[in-house]
Amino acid sequence: MGPVLPARLKLRDGREVWVREIQPDDKDGLQAAVGHMSVQSRYMRFMATVRAISEPMLEKATHPVADREFALVAVGDEGGVESIVAGARYASDAGSDTCEFAIMIVDDWQGQGLAPRLMQILMEAAEAHGFRYMEGSVLTQNTAMRGLARRLGFDDKADPRDATVRVVKRALGNVGAAAGT
Ligand SMILES: CC(C)(COP(=O)(O)OP(=O)(O)OC[C@H]1O[C@@H](n2cnc3c(N)ncnc32)[C@H](O)[C@@H]1OP(=O)(O)O)[C@@H](O)C(=O)NCCC(=O)NCCS
Repeated sequence: MGPVLPARLKLRDGREVWVREIQPDDKDGLQAAVGHMSVQSRYMRFMATVRAISEPMLEKATHPVADREFALVAVGDEGGVESIVAGARYASDAGSDTCEFAIMIVDDWQGQGLAPRLMQILMEAAEAHGFRYMEGSVLTQNTAMRGLARRLGFDDKADPRDATVRVVKRALGNVGAAAGT
């Protein structure tokens, strides 16, 4: 069975977020979230110097293709105003048994254990959609994401094409046993 969404999560410092599937009208919220991320975090997520997401990318991000893509956001309350504080997604090529994840947490919300919870939900969704493996490309210097992936049961291997990147990969099917949640 897939994850039950929306879900309310309590973070380490007591703040709470709603986790729900992304919606078509999340474009502005997603753009704002990227705008609130540090240069370093944006670089880690996009592997490039990205200041804003282009309209075609926003359109794609907010319209996951059924069966092949899945995306969720975490919505937090900052001074009475709701805003997107994290996003996580996977995508796959048609017919593939492997999906590729990407995740970003706005800097003010990092270090609260949010990413492992979102990864867990993402893996449950991927498993429910019949995927057998989940993988991700992570910059070699991204020790936070590599450590997190390792704790969640992902292998961490060199990318034969690119020494600046590691490929983390995990079989699905036993997702409930993942650590770090
Ligand atoms: C990597 C990332 C997803 C981790 O999310 P998170 O919710 O902070 O995860 P956790 O709270 O479990 O922390 C994971 C690790 O990051 C460290 N960390 C978290 N926030 C940090 C911060 N602001 N500064 C330094 N270290 C931090 C934690 O101490 C922990 O380190 P450890 O592995 O040595 O224990 C998040 O930092 C992020 O979005 N980074 C930018 C985008 C990115 O790198 N995406 C992954 C590529 S697909």
